[in-house]
Formats: sequence, C-alpha cells, structure tokens
Amino acid sequence: MEQSKNILITGGAGFIGSHVVRLFVTKYPQYNIVNLDALTYAGNLENLKDIENAPNYFFEHVNILDNAALEAVFAKHSISDVIHLAAESHVDRSILSPLDFVYTNIIGTVNLLQAAKKSWNGNYDNKRFYHISTDEVYGSLDNGGFFTETTAYSPNSPYSASKASSDHFVRAYGETYGMPTVISNCSNNYGPYHFPEKLIPLFINNIINNKPLPVYGDGLFTRDWLYVKDHALAIDMVFHNGKVHDTYNIGGFNEWTNIDLIKLLVEKMDHKLGRATGESLPLITFVKDRPGHDKRYAIDATKINKELGWKPSVTFEEGLEETIDWYLNNSEWLENVTSGAYQKYYEQQYHS
Ligand code: NAD
Ligand code: DAU
Repeated sequence: MEQSKNILITGGAGFIGSHVVRLFVTKYPQYNIVNLDALTYAGNLENLKDIENAPNYFFEHVNILDNAALEAVFAKHSISDVIHLAAESHVDRSILSPLDFVYTNIIGTVNLLQAAKKSWNGNYDNKRFYHISTDEVYGSLDNGGFFTETTAYSPNSPYSASKASSDHFVRAYGETYGMPTVISNCSNNYGPYHFPEKLIPLFINNIINNKPLPVYGDGLFTRDWLYVKDHALAIDMVFHNGKVHDTYNIGGFNEWTNIDLIKLLVEKMDHKLGRATGESLPLITFVKDRPGHDKRYAIDATKINKELGWKPSVTFEEGLEETIDWYLNNSEWLENVTSGAYQKYYEQQYHS
C-alpha cells in the first residue's frame, strides 16, 4: 500500500482534471485529494458529483493568480504533492484573448511553483510537482515523423506558447531550486465531461441539434486522439513512477484527419439517433481556417510504454462509442454548460 499523501490537483473541475481526481480519490483512499479550481467557464463541480462526498476529497475554490490563497491552501492541507492541470485550454480562445493565457498558464504556474517552494522550504523528501502539458508545444509535424521527448519546442498559437513557457518554468524550478518536478506532454483527449467547444463534443452537440458542423480549412488537419481515462491512468503512472526532472510523451498512436473523424462521428451519431445513414452529412460546413493552424500532431509514446508499462487500454472505436453514449445520456449536463457565458462566446466566434 502506498504511503499517505496530501495531493493538490489543480483544475480538477475541468475535463481531464475531473477524471484524474475521480481516479485518485477512488483508487487511493489513503491519499487526501485537494481539488483547487477557480471554476471558470470550463470548470464545473457537476463533473465530480459522484465522488464529492468521499471522505478523502476536498475542494478549494481558488484562483492560481491569488498567491495568498495558494499559500493558505498549502498550509491548511500540508500539501505534499502537486498535479497541475489548471489552465486556459482552448486554442481558439487564445487567438481571441492571448493575455488570459499568459496570466493563468504562465503566471499562475509560476505562482504555484512559488507556493510549493515556500511551503516545502527546501525539504523535498517525498514531494513531487507534476505539470500536465500538451504536445502542441512541439509545433506542427508537416513532413511526417513523430514528436519525441527530445523534439525542440516550436509553439505556434498563444495557447501553445503559454504552455511551452510554463513547461520551461517548471523545468527551471527543477534545475535551479532542485524541486522534484516532472512533466508530461499529451495528445488530444476526448471523452465524457469534455467542454463542447472542442471538436468532438462540439460536433456531437451540433449533430444532436441539427446545427452546422464548422470544419476549419480543408479539414485535412491531423490529430492523435486518446481516451481521457487512459490519459488519467498515464498520469497515475508518471506521478508514482516517473523519473524526477524527466518528461514523458503520452499519445494514442491514433491519427485521424479531421474530416475522416467527422464523417465517422456523423455515421455513429446518425445510427444512435435513429436517423438514416448519412442524414447529418449535409451539416458539414467548410469555414475559414484557424489562424496558425497546426497541420499535424503525432506522439511517439514509446518511452512511457517501455519505462512505465503504459499503453492505451481502449480502442478508438470503444472510446468513441462510450463518449457518444455519455453525451446522449447526459443531456442536462450538456444543456447546463452550453447556456450562459459559453453561448455568448460561441456567438462571437470568428467562424460563426
Ligand atoms: P479544461 O479547460 O477542461 O479545464 C481547465 C480547468 O482549470 C477548469 O476546471 C478551470 O476552471 C480551471 N482553471 C482555469 N483557470 C484557472 C485559474 N486561473 N485558477 C484555477 N483554476 C483555473 O482543460 P482540460 O482540457 O481538462 O486540460 C487540463 C490540462 O491538460 C491543461 O493544462 C491542458 O493544457 C492540458 N492538456 C489538455 C489536453 C486536451 O486534449 N484537452 C491535451 C494535453 C494537455
Ligand atoms: O494536442 C493537445 C491539445 O488538443 C490540447 O493541448 C488542447 O488543450 C486541446 O484543446 C486540443 O487542441 P486542438 O486545437 O487540437 O483541439 P480542438 O478540439 O480545438 O481542434 C481539433 C481539430 O479540429 C483542430 O485541427 C481544429 C479543428 N476544428 C476545431 C473546432 C473546434 C474544426 O475544424 N472545427 C471546430 O469547430
């Protein structure tokens, strides 16, 4: 049995964070799990309803830009470890409002590093600061190949530039102050509780409501999709067994062009909704491209497989099936998150 820990998980009310919190709360009853989240448009405590009363779960409604509040949380819960997921996560929003990404993703991360450094005060025994990052820091693979842990950083969007910067700060705290840091860079996640501004949940929601499916550019952009629960399992492994000061790439070896993925989604949704095969295909609408749109991402996940034994546990078919069923069975959740602030943002999107 693992020893007791008091783990701070930031961004635990968001998409990936809620899966990580649920996994840790249920799998490790000996750990105290403190979910720290500002509850932005993307954060939603409904995502954690099933575990909110667990005796080892705690919630702190705190913004990582608030230094005093961060320090208070470290002291109150005697935090021993950090798994940092809180971030502004949507590329399109970063094109509209880059500064929000600078504040939360860069300054917020440095604030968190500072709070950990101050609280741990040079005693790094049994401590760990784990930063969750993205493959987007590596830029775009236009001419084949894969991203490995040694690929040079070349971020193209304000989002990926802010994540690259936060990765560098985490690494620098490891080198400069000896903080036991570790970083992982993951490909595109999909699954339950994904906010319907990102491709898969947005298109599921639009197909349900017979709304246009806005395909950026020619639709021939490629992403490597990973089921969110498999990312959470990888995070569990890196947290417990990853080498300090190291980085791990996480991906599904599952590349799809957007247009092929969208056609598959339409086929599956039409079937589930009792529509004729291909009935929703006319919803596909080619719109102007995302500025700075990265052509292709593809992760080489050999290192985490060889060193830690991780590999995806579900196929894309299985994961997509579970995801579609989840959205069809959770229409109230979908309705709640697509009203209000989200709607206002959606209306001012440049592709509308
Ligand atoms: P998300 O947008 O669904 O959730 C982000 C969470 O962070 C929300 O709960 C939000 O309320 C919280 N948050 C935002 N700003 C905050 C602040 N200033 N203080 C405290 N909390 C704040 O994001 P996600 O898709 O779950 O991504 C989580 C992390 O994983 C991010 O760091 C992201 O860069 C990274 N990541 C995401 C993917 C993906 O495909 N979604 C892939 C690789 C890496
Ligand atoms: O690669 C990891 C990254 O994946 C994460 O770091 C980000 O947080 C996450 O949002 C995701 O970024 P993408 O930009 O790849 O995801 P998004 O769902 O926004 O877009 C996926 C692809 O679909 C991309 O090529 C743009 C395209 N797209 C997206 C939307 C929302 C469309 O064609 N139409 C759309 O309406």
